Amino acid sequence: MKLPDILSRVKNHLPLSLQFLLEVLSYWRRLCRYNASVRTDRDRQKMQYTLLRENHIIEKGMSMPNPRRGFGQAKVQSLTTRMGRYCELYGSEPDTFLLYILATIRAYIDYQHRDGVDIPDIESAFSQLCAKVGISPGQLSTPAGIEVLRRTDLQQAAAADFQTLLLSRHSIRYFRPELPPRELLERALELAARTPSACNRQAWHTHIYFDEEAHELLRMQGGCKGFCDDIPCCIVVTADMKGFLGHEPFQCFIDGGLYAQNLINALHFVGLGDIPLSCGFFSDQLLPMQRRFQIPENEVMVVIIGTGLMTDNVKVAISTRKPIAATNIYHS
Ligand SMILES: Cc1cc2nc3c(=O)[nH]c(=O)nc-3n(C[C@H](O)[C@H](O)[C@H](O)COP(=O)(O)O)c2cc1C
Repeated sequence: MKLPDILSRVKNHLPLSLQFLLEVLSYWRRLCRYNASVRTDRDRQKMQYTLLRENHIIEKGMSMPNPRRGFGQAKVQSLTTRMGRYCELYGSEPDTFLLYILATIRAYIDYQHRDGVDIPDIESAFSQLCAKVGISPGQLSTPAGIEVLRRTDLQQAAAADFQTLLLSRHSIRYFRPELPPRELLERALELAARTPSACNRQAWHTHIYFDEEAHELLRMQGGCKGFCDDIPCCIVVTADMKGFLGHEPFQCFIDGGLYAQNLINALHFVGLGDIPLSCGFFSDQLLPMQRRFQIPENEVMVVIIGTGLMTDNVKVAISTRKPIAATNIYHS
């Protein structure tokens, strides 16, 4: 009998604290195998996920309020190099993944040209990649890069039907300095409270910060450099570990995540701009944040949502989605 089978047999006879330790060890084993930072390029999916992340950094750069002229060249160079390696390792079939990344690089080149920046090395690496994939740059039709949207159009779409709400929601990085009215925040919180939760325990909490406190929190979060001081309000979504029993050690992240997504949509519905900001960090980064911002240790931080009134026009990253065939499996 293998060790995991033996452990699974004896597990229920152990004290709960040891059962938790086994659970953490089991998760540790999977992390060591499947985390994207571990032997990344030896695994096609890990390479794709990390390339999508690098691709997003370029898209996000183009959607920023005040990007530095000529920004991002080293990152795009590195993306083209890794894309070349990906093609060598896993083939250069022009699938939706490769075409999306190529379309983003082209959008970046066009963006720099409009800004009068010359980037011959990137253009040549891009041409070589296109040749490898067997496509000419003019044939790239995957939506990529950024688009400029009007606040009034976004607000109208959000107040229409569910489909239009979902299709018009974007991560917003352009805010007016005024604080969002509390009545709008509370309407969104009321709507998000309709989120289903395991046994209706509703173990979510929200902590709301404004102005300088919000900026300090966002600086500690680190994922909104270049626009964090423009975000007038942030909502930290947490879930209370006290709400869950021994057999559901990770349920707090699931219930908290479901609630957070509803709050993200509800903020859009009430006409505010909003952006989810990651709390996916090691605890030595999160726990000091929790202490500084008076979030009790029994709560886990799920996500920070930056929110506020939008400026009249906003630039958003197009963030093309995978076709559902790439993410769904029918088991019949
Ligand atoms: C859990 C989570 C964490 C995120 N963290 C950040 C972040 O730190 N900085 C940022 O600019 N965007 C962040 N985003 C926004 C994503 O980049 C964005 O949702 C994604 O590119 C899709 O674009 P869309 O929201 O406009 O549809 C985060 C989104 C989620 C769901």
